[in-house]
Amino acid sequence: MRMQAAVLYRQGLPRPYTESRPMVVEEVELDPPGPGEVLIEIVAAGLCHSDLSTIENQRPRPLPIVIGHEGSAIVREVGPEVPDLKPGDHCVTVFVTSCGHCRYCDAGRPNICTGGFAARAAGTLLSGARKLRLNGEPINHNSGLSLYAQYAVVARSALVRIDPDIPLAEAAIFGCAVMTGAGAVLNTAGIGAGDSLAVVGLGGVGMNALLAAVAAGAERIVAIDTNQEKLALAREWGATDTFQAGPDCAAAVRDATDGGLDTVVETAGAIPAMELAYAITARGGQTVSAGLPNVQKPFSYLHAALVSDERSIRGSYMGSCVPQRDVPRFLRLWQRGRLPVDRLISGHIGFDELNAGFDRLSEGGVLRQLLRPHGVPADLLPGNASKAA
Ligand SMILES: NC(=O)c1ccc[n+]([C@@H]2O[C@H](COP(=O)([O-])OP(=O)(O)OC[C@H]3O[C@@H](n4cnc5c(N)ncnc54)[C@H](O)[C@@H]3O)[C@@H](O)[C@H]2O)c1
Ligand SMILES: [Zn+2]
Ligand SMILES: [Zn+2]
Repeated sequence: MRMQAAVLYRQGLPRPYTESRPMVVEEVELDPPGPGEVLIEIVAAGLCHSDLSTIENQRPRPLPIVIGHEGSAIVREVGPEVPDLKPGDHCVTVFVTSCGHCRYCDAGRPNICTGGFAARAAGTLLSGARKLRLNGEPINHNSGLSLYAQYAVVARSALVRIDPDIPLAEAAIFGCAVMTGAGAVLNTAGIGAGDSLAVVGLGGVGMNALLAAVAAGAERIVAIDTNQEKLALAREWGATDTFQAGPDCAAAVRDATDGGLDTVVETAGAIPAMELAYAITARGGQTVSAGLPNVQKPFSYLHAALVSDERSIRGSYMGSCVPQRDVPRFLRLWQRGRLPVDRLISGHIGFDELNAGFDRLSEGGVLRQLLRPHGVPADLLPGNASKAA
């Protein structure tokens, strides 16, 4: 079939992206689903900082590529060997496709599946196939998804079927920001009622971490960002203390918390943020990092202190989620008003605004913008918000 997709031809172009135009909307060919694959119509796709990092070349990828790894969709066609999905089903997408039989899948950790990581590096689907073509030349897939497009062919494990009553466009953010942020707090860090933590970096991922900490009944929730506006929002949404990141921040947090917090979750994706997170972790505490800085940049720590303070540093990828278990769990919390993540949606945009949307994300003024590849519904266009309410 033919469809529109935003093709990224070069990484590392300068800002503003409205001028350098890293992504170009093209009419591309999409091949039908093979065994174990599904054709989906994309309803909404979020603009995540990981996509921005790809545009910036913080992480080199095979080019040309269609990026976009957080979304919601409707099943349009199932390939052979997909017995449990049918056309019309509503889904949230998953950015680590999993094979179901490697040592990590066997251990209940599909978020670090070997097959999914290999396919991402190669720019293919889990099956090794490339389904996208432009003028006969193959285009690479991103995270087995490539959602800045009207349709996609994906592996079955890239989809979690959801209840048709759930608002489908908003559900898109469960595909990355919610799984990553809420999962880092609830799964990786294991935060429960009465615990205390800090969240460093209050973007789409960090605000989800904050909301999940509130939902879990955490007692003290310290929120930290360089951006003052995000601190004000964090206070409104349940942070008990806020600090602006900067040279004096670590000392101020340690003073206010009797030497630091038992858990600190880093969700900024910058080495200074990770250094701050580690510096405000108490003796005996854990520093959990979900941020993804430049792949070449190291983080260092004093090893003897790690040992004598009994500290731990843990990575959290896709919130340590088992998507088929956790997406429905987080959706239920949302439906009950316990995880009000739709607050994070800063607006809906069409293809014409995709490059501008990434300028806005890098300026730090927005949380989650949603690309609507079939056009923004009229009631959601800027200026029509009152009609949508
Ligand atoms: N681990 C995963 O599975 C996973 C999944 C999605 C995104 N990510 C990564 O998580 C990070 C956050 O993504 P996002 O979409 O929320 O980004 P975002 O741009 O919406 O938010 C990042 C926030 O960090 C703040 N920040 C930057 N430097 C800081 C510093 N030194 N101290 C404190 N705050 C600082 C920014 O002001 C911003 O509010 C990115 O690195 C992204 O690539 C990881
Ligand atoms: Zn993401
Ligand atoms: Zn696997």
